[in-house]
Amino acid sequence: MNEVTPVTEAPKPDAQKTDAPKIKPVPTLPDAQTVTEVKHYTDRLFSFRCTRPATMRFRSGEFVMIGLMGDNGKPLLRAYSIASPSWDEELEFYSIKVQDGPLTSKLQHIQPGDEIILRPKPVGTLVHDALLPGKRLWFFATGTGFAPFASLLREPQTYEDYDEVIITHTCREVGELTYGRELIESLKTDELLHELMGPDFHKKIRYYPTTTREESPKMGRITDLMRSGECFADLGVPVLNKDTDRAMVCGNLAFNLEIKEMLEGYGLEEGANSDPKHYVVEKAFLD
Ligand code: A2P
Repeated sequence: MNEVTPVTEAPKPDAQKTDAPKIKPVPTLPDAQTVTEVKHYTDRLFSFRCTRPATMRFRSGEFVMIGLMGDNGKPLLRAYSIASPSWDEELEFYSIKVQDGPLTSKLQHIQPGDEIILRPKPVGTLVHDALLPGKRLWFFATGTGFAPFASLLREPQTYEDYDEVIITHTCREVGELTYGRELIESLKTDELLHELMGPDFHKKIRYYPTTTREESPKMGRITDLMRSGECFADLGVPVLNKDTDRAMVCGNLAFNLEIKEMLEGYGLEEGANSDPKHYVVEKAFLD
């Protein structure tokens, strides 16, 4: 997978000395896209960007199947939330590295110029269409569950539709918050959002990062911090209610189930593309 098929015709020796036009590598995989950038955050987390199929449209918050060719010659694919917004000319993904994971044990070694397989059929429920209008939008994430919110936070509609956007992100360690923190910081200088939403749009964003296994300014699972009321007191907002609050949830399975129950307890109902309501849930797609 790390090899790019050589060009079909080798350049003549003296052509190499001139400004010969760059020759595009010939795709070797079905639905191949080329990796353009890779960033490693911790020994468990990395992000990468790749080319986007010219015809692929998606709604910010959706996911696609991506992967590599397996040792058995068959594509090894997993569902990955698209972390880039719908208007971006490239695609971005945020991934865990599982050392013995069938896909991520290999995917973590990709380099710019390598190819990945991407099935260009985006789907998902973490989309604005699945929520009724509201005042305050909550993004609840654990670990790599931040990915769809990295897309939605760069989507102008997020700021058009809501007065306030609260992002909670619970991770084991401080380093696991870096991708999200940098993304949120980058919004302050995002040209497109500034142009469309005005210079103050980022004042709508409230960021509430917490860690559970390493010391940080706010420790604890978000679920516990909500149950105790500490989270609402810290943010200076009332407990969620269905008249004003909308929520999107993406994390590990236990987290999704627990927070779903809590949201139902606050009186919010689960929405879908065909039946928009007050909250939507998606599981993080781990190896
Ligand atoms: P904890 O360290 O207490 O297990 P993971 O990396 O295992 O997916 O977990 C990411 C983060 O989500 C961790 O901080 C973990 O806390 C937290 N977490 C796991 N399960 C739940 C849950 N049911 N409710 C809230 N947070 C959870």
